[in-house]
Formats: sequence, C-alpha cells, structure tokens
Amino acid sequence: MTGLGRNPVITLLAATGIVGSLFFADGVVASETGGDPEKGTKVFARECGTCHKVGPEARNGIGPHLNGLFGRRAGSLEGFRYSKAMREAGENGLVWEFETLDLFIENPRSVVKGTRMSYRGLKDADKRRHLLAFLRQFSDNPRDIPEAAPTLPEGPGFQVPESVLKMEGDPAYGEYLASECFTCHSKDGSDNGISPIIGWPPEDFVVALYAYKTGYRKHPVMEMIARSLGDEEIAALAAYLATLQPSE
Ligand code: HEC
Ligand code: HEC
Repeated sequence: MTGLGRNPVITLLAATGIVGSLFFADGVVASETGGDPEKGTKVFARECGTCHKVGPEARNGIGPHLNGLFGRRAGSLEGFRYSKAMREAGENGLVWEFETLDLFIENPRSVVKGTRMSYRGLKDADKRRHLLAFLRQFSDNPRDIPEAAPTLPEGPGFQVPESVLKMEGDPAYGEYLASECFTCHSKDGSDNGISPIIGWPPEDFVVALYAYKTGYRKHPVMEMIARSLGDEEIAALAAYLATLQPSE
C-alpha cells in the first residue's frame, strides 16, 4: 500500500477491506437485531455472565466463551466439553445466527433438547434483542455485515506517524502478543465470522489498528484493544502476522 497520508480515507478503506461492503452492500443482512448493545451489556452480566465470558482474553468457564459466536457451528469450540446433545446438534447443522440464538436464549431446550445449559430462558424479546446486539460486537465481520460500514465517520481522516510505519517489528514478540488476538480471530486465516488478520502487508495492518486507536473506525472492542497497544507492540504484531499465510 502506498500513498499513505495523501488520501488516508481511501487508504484506510482499502486497508480494511471495507470498500466492498460500502459500495456493494445490498443491505441483505441489515439490522437484524435492532437492539442496543449498551443495554445488552447489562442483560449479559445479569443473565449469562456467571457462566459465560466474552471479550478479550475470554476463556471457557462453566459455559463456552462467546467470542465469534455468530456463524459458529453449535458445540464446535475446541477445549470445551459439550453435552452429547449440543455436539450432535452442531453435527446436524445447527449454526448460531440471530434466529437460532434468539430461540435458544428464549428456551434452550426447545432448540437443543438435552443441553447441559441449565438456564430457564429469557422471555422478554426486547432484552434478547439488546443482548444479541451486544454479543454481535464480538463477532461482527465488517465484510459480511453492510451495517457495519457506516461506523466509519465522514471526516478528515487520521494520520499514522511515518516513524511508526517504518518501524521494524520483532516477530517473536509479535507471536507472544498475538495469542490474545486468536481468541477471536482465526489463526489459519479461515473466516470464523470475524475478519482474518494474517498475511496482511504490515503497513495495512498498522493503519487498520491506528484507525481503531484513534477512534476513526468505531468498534468498542477493537478500539479498547488497539489503545492498549504501544507502537512497538503494533509493529511486532504486524511483523509476525504478516509471516502467517492462510491455508487453502
Ligand atoms: C448456569 C450456567 C449458564 C447460564 C446462566 C447460561 N449458559 Fe449458555 N451454556 C452453558 C453451558 C454449560 C453450555 C454448554 C451446553 C451443552 O454443552 O449442552 C452453554 C452453551 C451456550 C451456547 C452454545 C455455544 C456453543 O459453543 O455452541 C450459547 C450460544 C449460550 N450458551 C448462550 C448463553 C446466553 C446468551 C446466556 C444468557 C442469556 C446463557 N448462555 C446463560 C451454561 C450457561
Ligand atoms: C474479543 C474479540 C477480539 C479480540 C480479542 C481481537 N479482535 Fe480484532 N476484531 C474483532 C472484531 C469483532 C472485529 C471487526 C470489527 C469491526 O467491525 O470493525 C475485529 C477487527 C480487527 C481488524 C480489522 C480487520 C478488517 O478486516 O478490517 C484488525 C486488524 C484486528 N481486529 C486486529 C486484532 C489484533 C491485532 C488483536 C490482538 C491484539 C485483536 N484484533 C484482538 C474482535 C477481536
């Protein structure tokens, strides 16, 4: 990617792959949930938080972590011991999407008879919409969800300091840092519902992280993560992730 600084908006759009969704969106997926993620935060804490974790560094607990949930096959997380019923539901084709989640949360056993999730169900449809809007933040793939594109505000754009773009990152340090990223992003470049981040030209990667760091590109989770990273860490991640190539 060249010409940075000249037209950062286009550079950014190209770097993040958002161009496609901005210009070719049919609005098919559109606003499925219409919920308010902020209200959903509270619903999650009250209804699900004792058993499930979501967000950076989320781990499996009593229930599986819920990062990258949308588009995930039921019962498919490595390292979590599901009930036989949940594993079989996934093998038979149950994939977590808005509709299947909505039903499951309303009444878990109506969707997966014999699930080990002992939860009475959330009957309030509005609360479910808010909850799903909250959870979707940890899954959104900007390429697939046209609605995500307008989170890029119109405006003057932002600058990435030249010195940062020129920085030589340490791939070994990057590898260490990247383990956190792989709780959401796939390591083999497959599309698990969240954009793959491996094999990017380092400059594009740095620009993408600065877009979140500066709040130019809005996404609460990625903004928080990008702000927690210093320039040296970003350069290290860029160097390491560029060495990984997607498997076919
Ligand atoms: C008492 C603990 C508990 C509570 C509360 C709970 N869950 Fe679960 N959840 C589980 C367990 C255990 C499983 C695994 C079920 C199985 O294997 O049959 C699970 C599975 C799931 C799955 C399937 C994930 C996968 O990888 O296939 C989803 C989705 C889910 N829960 C969402 C929620 C949501 C959303 C809430 C809040 C409304 C919630 N759960 C509340 C314990 C809980
Ligand atoms: C809790 C889940 C989560 C974690 C952890 C996470 N990300 Fe993300 N990341 C996302 C989501 C969701 C998006 C899509 C956000 C959007 O719509 O803008 C994203 C987007 C990105 C993008 C832009 C992708 C694109 O196609 O434009 C980059 C680059 C990125 N993340 C890098 C990282 C790095 C580096 C780390 C580790 C330091 C990391 N992420 C950790 C969830 C996560």
